[in-house]
Amino acid sequence: MPIKFPFTKNKKQTSSQPLGLDFNHLPEHVAIIMDGNGRWAKNRGMPRIAGHKEGMSVVKKVVRHASDIGLKVLTLYAFSTENWKRPKNEVDFLMKLPVDFLNTYLPELIEKNVQVQTIGDFEVLPQHTQKAVNEAIERTRDNDGLVLNFALNYGSRFEMVNAVKQIASKVKQGELNPEEINEDLFSSELYTKDLIEPDLLIRTSGEQRLSNFLLWQLAYAEFWFTEVYWPDFDEGLFEKALYDYQNRKRRYGGV
Ligand code: FPP
Repeated sequence: MPIKFPFTKNKKQTSSQPLGLDFNHLPEHVAIIMDGNGRWAKNRGMPRIAGHKEGMSVVKKVVRHASDIGLKVLTLYAFSTENWKRPKNEVDFLMKLPVDFLNTYLPELIEKNVQVQTIGDFEVLPQHTQKAVNEAIERTRDNDGLVLNFALNYGSRFEMVNAVKQIASKVKQGELNPEEINEDLFSSELYTKDLIEPDLLIRTSGEQRLSNFLLWQLAYAEFWFTEVYWPDFDEGLFEKALYDYQNRKRRYGGV
C-alpha cells in the first residue's frame, strides 16, 4: 500500500503535497553525483571548501534517509580521478572530508546497520583518508543494511581499461578463451562486481552529464536531474526523485 511520506517541502521542483511513495517499489540502488558545492559557496561569498563542508552535512541526511526507507545501495561520487586537477587546498580538504565524516558519524552508521564500501583507485589516497575509510569498512563489514558506497578517486574509463587488462592477461595466460568473454565476465572485473546495478542516477546543480561516473553500470538506469545545488539538497528532493522514478516505465529495450 502506498505510504504517505512526510518530508516533502515546498521547494523548486517539489510539490507541496505529500507524495504517495510506494515503499514496495523503491529503486534498490541509487547513485548520486553531488554537484554544485563550489557554486553554492560562491553565491554566499564563501570559499569553495565551505560548500564541501555543507555538502557533507547533506550526505549525512541523505544516508540516514536512504537507510530509514530501506534502500539497498547508495553510491556517492565523492572524488573523481579528474578532481586532482583542483587547487591543492581544495583537494586536501576533500581528502579530509571522509575522515571528518567517519569520525563523527561512524557510530550512527554502525547503529543503523549500514555497511561502508568504496569503489575507485583507493591505494593512492592519502594515508589518513585510507585509514579512516578502512576502519569504517572493517567495523561495518558484517552489517547487512544499506550499503553506503563511496566513489573515491573513481573514474569509469580507468575502471573499464583495468577490466580489459585483467581479461587480456587471463587470455594470455591461457586461463580464458576469448569466446568466453561476455557482459557478465566484464562486469565481474569492475569495482562494482558485488553490487546490483544502479536503478536511479541523481545529479544536482543543473548539469546533465555523467562525468565519467559508472558508464557501464548505468546502462539501464533512470536519470533524474535537479537545478538545486548539493548543499541545498534534502530529504524532500530525494523523495521527489524516488517518486518520479516510480512513475517511469523501465522497458530495458523491450516494449
Ligand atoms: C562537486 O561539486 C562536488 C565534489 C567534487 C565533492 C563532493 C563531496 C561532498 C559533497 C562531500 C562528501 C562527503 C563525504 C563524507 C565523502 P563542485 O565542487 O564541482 O561544485 P561546482 O560545480 O559548483 O564548482
